[in-house]
Amino acid sequence: MGKIEDHKRIIKLRQEIARLRDAYHTENTPNVTDDVYDSLTRELRELLKKRPEFNDINAPENRIAGKPLDKFLKVKHQSRMLSLNDAFSYEELYDWEKRIKKLLPQNSKFEYFCEVKFDGLAVSLIYENGKFVRGTTRGDGLVGEDITQNLKTIESIPLFLPPDKGGFRGVLEVRGEALMSKKTFTALNKKNKKDGKTLFANTRNAAAGSLRQLDPQLAKERHLNFVAYDMSSLPFTQNHSQKHEILRELGFKVEKLEAKCKSLPEVIKFIEKFAKVREKFPYGTDGIVISIDDLKLQEVLGVIGKAPRFMVAFKYPAEKATTIVKNIIVNVGRTGALTPLAIFEPTLVAGSTVSKATLHNMDQIERLGLRIGDTVVIEKAGDVIPKVVEVLTRLRTGKEKKFIMPKNCPVCEGKVEKKELVAYYCVNKKCPAKNERFLDHFVSVFEIYELGPKILRRFKDEGLITDAADIFTLTKEDIVPLERFGEKSAENIIEEIKNKKKVSLAKFLWALGILHVGEETARDLAVNFGTLEKVIASASLDLVEIDSIENIGPAVSKSLHSFFTDKNNLHFIEKLKKNGVVVEKMEKVKAGKFTGKTFVLTGTLLEMSREIAKEKILALGGKVSGSVSKNTSYVVAGVDSGSKLTTAQKLGVKILDEKEFLKLL
Ligand code: IVH
Repeated sequence: MGKIEDHKRIIKLRQEIARLRDAYHTENTPNVTDDVYDSLTRELRELLKKRPEFNDINAPENRIAGKPLDKFLKVKHQSRMLSLNDAFSYEELYDWEKRIKKLLPQNSKFEYFCEVKFDGLAVSLIYENGKFVRGTTRGDGLVGEDITQNLKTIESIPLFLPPDKGGFRGVLEVRGEALMSKKTFTALNKKNKKDGKTLFANTRNAAAGSLRQLDPQLAKERHLNFVAYDMSSLPFTQNHSQKHEILRELGFKVEKLEAKCKSLPEVIKFIEKFAKVREKFPYGTDGIVISIDDLKLQEVLGVIGKAPRFMVAFKYPAEKATTIVKNIIVNVGRTGALTPLAIFEPTLVAGSTVSKATLHNMDQIERLGLRIGDTVVIEKAGDVIPKVVEVLTRLRTGKEKKFIMPKNCPVCEGKVEKKELVAYYCVNKKCPAKNERFLDHFVSVFEIYELGPKILRRFKDEGLITDAADIFTLTKEDIVPLERFGEKSAENIIEEIKNKKKVSLAKFLWALGILHVGEETARDLAVNFGTLEKVIASASLDLVEIDSIENIGPAVSKSLHSFFTDKNNLHFIEKLKKNGVVVEKMEKVKAGKFTGKTFVLTGTLLEMSREIAKEKILALGGKVSGSVSKNTSYVVAGVDSGSKLTTAQKLGVKILDEKEFLKLL
């Protein structure tokens, strides 16, 4: 982007960040998650690195968020309550180390201290001669709100400190985080839902909401907790870790999981250790706080802007991030279906860089209200494919463009037709994109692993194959002359093709790439018809028979009919057979104790997946149907069964719970 565009974006980002911050800190009602907020701030930070001329010390990102509410007494903090700078990767931790090493006397020896970063409400507690006299929120860092009465209801905040411990007199400040456990949060929201009240977005908001209201009784009912992480320095304290020890002695709750580390690799070990238990941790956490343990060195490093230099917050990879949709392109699948794909500014989410995500269909684009140029929230949990979950319309500039599905296929320029409600298809049977995808799909169903998409493309370009059936007549001599293929690799390919010529009927039907016939449906067809000839005969003549198979609806039977009445497809099947493909017939299940019985499975089974349960029923000669009718013999109801169970009750169909079903098996 050019300078002017960057400046405009900086202004937009600043406005939105300020709005979100206010909602987060002052009203306890965020409308986006922390990940989204962090992602926008990161983008702003990077833009400002690129365009430092737009840096502004008065801008919202350089101030501590949150202003004190009017309803509470305002209290000036004894020393500023600071924020922390974030590190979103190990690389950023190393950058931080490099910066501090430059500022410390050469060859200074120091240790790191790692502790859990709790996601609650920062509070400061003041003790005078051992008595708890005042508790405040962070507010804007300089002035906070007096919430003493509410804090007094928290049992883990001692009202008096033992006089014989700690060895201090006068004023002592303890800082920490007020928290609501995940368990209490779930119960509270459940109750609020029942009572028709608004739900809290997360544990942090629930804790903040409970403390920043005027009724201490209500605060008490919320069962909050307090963990201490810092206290004012005493004449004899030398390390941050020592402060934790003193806090424990004084009766404060201090998290056990903490570590002194000699180097960043050790710090990273701690980060990874906590990552494993983070989900099960009773409180919301959002990272690890790492500090230089030595208080003297902390003083040397000091504070810059709103945050200390001697501390950093490592944030775990976000599962949500924001990015800009640069374009929406269209992919052509093996059935000719056109799938819109969003192309992003690359962004880091859940630990990997993401630059595109499928938008599935036109309906999805319309539901999101997505336009090219929009800033979007993308989500990725673990290994799951990223998806666009939200459009941040407030960041629009007015230049965003609506996406229109092309009228012609982007690959072959063939006509595009709208079929069903939301799906668009290229109807050109010879569309090269369709054929390529089909080839990839075909070899993957046949499990011919030696033929990856690149090799298939190469064979096609070299004229060795024109369709999937040609694969089965390839010879070693065809492949060896090709550059980069040796004797050995050619042999491997040929050997594997030979071994994979025999397939089950279910796989064969799946491999044909018939619209709406995926792995499951192909298996249902195979079980019901037993042979390919019977499938073809029924599909071309008797639609009724196919329609009556469980789990197969009119869309599938229509698609089967049009596939098996197309001469090209029948030729292709003949060619496959001629080239040596053998379709094994599906052994009809011998009569078993479930012969003649139809089962419907509903809800979650605990001992086995529904898939396995289905297989077991089929193996014993029974049938499995997707809907309950008078003809259903049994409904197997797992946990959280829904409408199928009610229908069964109404129709008087026998209902089995999982235990009874296992007994019957
Ligand atoms: S140390 C310099 N230790 O994180 C201020 N803070 O993003 C940091 N937080 O306002 C103090 N757990 O409310 C520290 N173990 C921990 C923490 C922690 C949570 C919060 C704290 C602070 C915010 C900064």
